[in-house]
Amino acid sequence: MNDAEGLKKIAGEAACEFVKSGMRVGLGTGSTVKYTVLELARRIQEEGLQIVGVPTSIATENLARENGVPLVELGSLDGLDIVIDGTDEFDPNFQLIKGGGAALLREKIVAQQSAAMVVVADGRKQVECLGAFGIPIEITPFACDVTVSRLETLLKCNVQLRMNGSEYVLTDNGNCIADAHTGPNILDPLATEATILNIAGVVQVGLFNNMCDAVVLASEDGVKTLMNPVGRLKRA
Ligand code: A5P
Repeated sequence: MNDAEGLKKIAGEAACEFVKSGMRVGLGTGSTVKYTVLELARRIQEEGLQIVGVPTSIATENLARENGVPLVELGSLDGLDIVIDGTDEFDPNFQLIKGGGAALLREKIVAQQSAAMVVVADGRKQVECLGAFGIPIEITPFACDVTVSRLETLLKCNVQLRMNGSEYVLTDNGNCIADAHTGPNILDPLATEATILNIAGVVQVGLFNNMCDAVVLASEDGVKTLMNPVGRLKRA
C-alpha cells in the first residue's frame, strides 16, 4: 500500500470511532470511505457491533453487502444518526466539494437525512478556497449540451461533460455529469450552489454547504479530527 492509500485507510478507519451500536449509518462513496465500510464490517463480525447502513451508491451497496454490513432503505427510517463520507475538497468553514465519483445526488440526499456528517480525508483535500477541483454537477441527459452552455455563461468558466470514450458517463440515477472548472475562487459557496441549482437541467450540484460537522484528516503528521465549531457533533 503506497503512502496516499495508507492515509486513506487511516482516516477511513479512525472515523469509525463515531459509530456506536444501535446507530443508523449513512455509508458514503469513494476510495477513502471504503476503509470505513470495511472497518465497520470487521467490528460487526468481531465485536458484535449492531448497526444498519444506508449506501450512497451502487458501488458502496455492493461493498457493504459483500462484507456483511446490514443494509436498509433510507425511506424505511425516520432519519440517520450519522453519515460518513469522503470529499474532494473542504475549506476552513467545513464547506465541501463532492462528486468526484459521480455519487453526489445520493450522497446529498443521505446527508440531508443525517443528524451528523463526518468526512474522511487525507491532507490533499484541505484547501483555503474551494474550486481547484472542478465542481461536479449532475444534469439531465435531455439537452445536456444546452445545460452545459448555460452553466458556462453563468459561471464564466469551462464546463465539461464527463465522457467515457464517445459515451456520456452516467450516474447511478441515469443522469449525465459535468465538471465546472472555476478555479480556486469560490468565495461564497452558498451563492454558487444557488446559482447552479437555479438552472432547470441541473439535478444537483456537488457543493455541500453547512452539512459537515467534523473532518477526520490523515496526513504525514498523523490523524486528527477537526470539529466544526458550529457543527452538531461533540468529539467521539
Ligand atoms: C463520490 O461521488 C465523491 O463525493 C467522493 O466521496 C469523493 O470524490 C471522495 O472520494 P475519494 O475518497 O475516493 O477521494
